[in-house]
Amino acid sequence: STATPCDIMLFGALGNLARRKLIPAFYQLDRAGLLAEGSRILALARRNLDIAAVHRQLLGALEEFVNPEEFDRSAAEGFLQRVDYQILDFNNTEDFQVLNTWRDGARNELIVYMACPPAMYGVIGRNLHAVSCCTERTRVVVEKPIGHDLESSRVINDELGAIYKESQLFRIDHYLGKETVQNLIALRFANNLFASQWDQNHISHVEITVAESVGIEGRWGYFDKAGQVRDMIQNHMLQLLCLIAMDPPSDLSADSIRDEKVKVLKALRKVTPDMMANYVVRGQYTAGTSTGVLVPGYLEEEGANKRSETETFVALKVEIDNWRWSGVPFYIRTGKRLPEKLSQIIIHFKPAPHYIFDPDQRHLANNKLIIRLEPDEGMSLRILTKDQGLHKGMRLRQGPLELTFSETFDAGRIPDAYERLLWEVMKGNQYLFVRRDEVEHAWRWVDRIIQNWNEGGEPPKRYAAGTWGPVASIAMITRDGRSWYEDA
Ligand code: BG6
Repeated sequence: STATPCDIMLFGALGNLARRKLIPAFYQLDRAGLLAEGSRILALARRNLDIAAVHRQLLGALEEFVNPEEFDRSAAEGFLQRVDYQILDFNNTEDFQVLNTWRDGARNELIVYMACPPAMYGVIGRNLHAVSCCTERTRVVVEKPIGHDLESSRVINDELGAIYKESQLFRIDHYLGKETVQNLIALRFANNLFASQWDQNHISHVEITVAESVGIEGRWGYFDKAGQVRDMIQNHMLQLLCLIAMDPPSDLSADSIRDEKVKVLKALRKVTPDMMANYVVRGQYTAGTSTGVLVPGYLEEEGANKRSETETFVALKVEIDNWRWSGVPFYIRTGKRLPEKLSQIIIHFKPAPHYIFDPDQRHLANNKLIIRLEPDEGMSLRILTKDQGLHKGMRLRQGPLELTFSETFDAGRIPDAYERLLWEVMKGNQYLFVRRDEVEHAWRWVDRIIQNWNEGGEPPKRYAAGTWGPVASIAMITRDGRSWYEDA
């Protein structure tokens, strides 16, 4: 089914996010026949360019960021026919009048996508309102991070809330659009097999790793003010944790799911200053060899402030203080310039209550469920079987029950997160978007960690680019008699 025809106003249309993700996602939706007939995109930016120049730029973005097998020049040119351009000073109310002209009687649903710094969200909203461009049906999409702490996120959310109802606001966390992440909901709530095992009776601990081999990709200006906690933990990592930890929602509606996620965020144990040494590791990369290439350290990146203490790596031990998860730590780590692009969640089940096999093999004796977001989206359940061969006796062996989505289902290409999220916006479904109280509870929790850092005065621990972060992150988990999982 297609959505109804939409008019999409894309603020920041020539920026990084639009070029890398949004324009390619719209192109893919168009190619898949999912942009309804008559849907249009209005690219908005400050640069004085004519439409031909904008089309050239966007075509360049498609060439660069769409997978070469999926790039088709004539499809791309066809898609660009839907894209108009308007130079606009986002601060100037007068300028916004022209948007009404473009709206052309406002027959289509209006979607406003603010792909610009969050400090602009309020002013854009007010200016759209001042020229009566929006209605109660308008959907507004905003990007993370909403602010840089609880206070500033409240200011931004208040500004938006003064103009739009919560039901109009689509706060993006693109991890919620990833195929495997959505599958967490299916895995957990469609399979009774797991439902009955999903708690402290059966699970010993959970690991979540989101590793990237890239550095900060020329984004020093943004990244140095944010750091890995604000850029990845406050949003993506806590969202993953919520989907693993939440109680079953009573239905798939946006609020049922979000209510359950909020309960998890409220139950996260506050990180006090005396917990910092055992529960938090922050790191910053130095020069090293990353995927075979010698790369500079964080402090040597272009535009770097040589004394920056911004973290590019974090490992945390998170406790959830509720009935289901009492005593089950969630070890989470994320960083730049790690050895590979790898995102996975590992559920470590407790060993069988009574063990009758070779004592030497005891370490094998817990089942694991590995949920892969990247690469090779899929799942693998590690179970124990008997080794073959008469002379092996009852030697155990751990093997995978394997589900790789692309191989098992032959379903063609897996859509990118932004495609799915844009599609949901066009359909008006909010369940993959973040509600205001989620944002705020997440900030409240991470703010404490950042505050402890600021007060503790201990600089980040160094790690060489191309390694798995500071050794302290290994020590953190080893102290509990565990280790970060490595695929054998
Ligand atoms: C973004 C962060 O939200 O997510 C980036 O700002 C990060 O720093 C990116 O690189 C990772 O997303 P993905 O989809 O490539 O895992």
